[in-house]
Amino acid sequence: MHSAPAKIILFGEHAVVYGQPAIAVPFSALSATADSIAAPDGTGLTIIAHDVGRVLHVYLDDDSPDNALTYAAQLTLRKLHARPPNLTIDLRSTIPVASGFGSGAAVSAALIRELSAALGSPLEGDQLNALVFEVEKMHHGTPSGIDNTVIVKNTPIYFVRDAGPQAFTIGRPFTLVIADSGIAASTRETVAAVRKLYEAKPARYQQLFDQIGVIVRAAKAAIEQGRWADIGQQMNLNHAVLQDLTVSSEVLDRLVQAAREAGALGAKLSGGGRGGNVIALVEPANAKRVAAAVRQAGAAHTWVTTVGG
Ligand code: PMV
Repeated sequence: MHSAPAKIILFGEHAVVYGQPAIAVPFSALSATADSIAAPDGTGLTIIAHDVGRVLHVYLDDDSPDNALTYAAQLTLRKLHARPPNLTIDLRSTIPVASGFGSGAAVSAALIRELSAALGSPLEGDQLNALVFEVEKMHHGTPSGIDNTVIVKNTPIYFVRDAGPQAFTIGRPFTLVIADSGIAASTRETVAAVRKLYEAKPARYQQLFDQIGVIVRAAKAAIEQGRWADIGQQMNLNHAVLQDLTVSSEVLDRLVQAAREAGALGAKLSGGGRGGNVIALVEPANAKRVAAAVRQAGAAHTWVTTVGG
């Protein structure tokens, strides 16, 4: 059995596609798991994706798989120069899809871990990350690579596209309320929408990306020094720029507002936006109250998590 966690982007989504830094952390309350059993001779490789009710047979000569899981398995077999083994892989995930939790990268990572281990050559680290990134391109078009990197490394990261991840320290653990809006939104579409705006007015949007870069660097320092109020303030500033990038929505703004009114130190959308999730930084004693307030404002589900604990 192998697994991979969900992830949360704390700062820098969208601007990270244009070379600005971003900060992400694993979110292990949600995860994808893959388990396998040997199958009779001649049956080949089958993936049962329980959450989407699909049974996928993997063939190496299928050159244009329409399914990301099939593609992930093919990439693994090619990397290891292996034929499809007689194996059935059960894949399950508790991560809501298209919600900014990195569900695609997590199921790919769990699947590749299980398959490569079953073949006797477990893939991990940079090799696993490179394969999951290839699959992410099918989900996202032009992904920055932050999702696969934080999910594979399972540790908080400060990420700059093309420069890769840097570890950093969390000076003092902090508490987040995470709220799923219950609205699925395609990251491929939000990334494409921002691209269109940028191409129409490059100077204006470059300035917004630069503003986010300044926020992310300030947030990193605040996280390293454990200054909760400053982390919260940078979250509020980051949300405002994401609104300017048109990736917030009425529902997300309402959840952010509800969290702030209930005493959160800061709140913002997280991930691709226009749906998906919102995160709020809270004093630990206030977490329940903020979670109740965002549910009251319409969140489909909330979690409370400690980062760096
Ligand atoms: O997968 P999501 O919805 O968390 O979005 C990923 C973050 C983006 O910056 C919007 C896209 C990317 O590839 O970095």
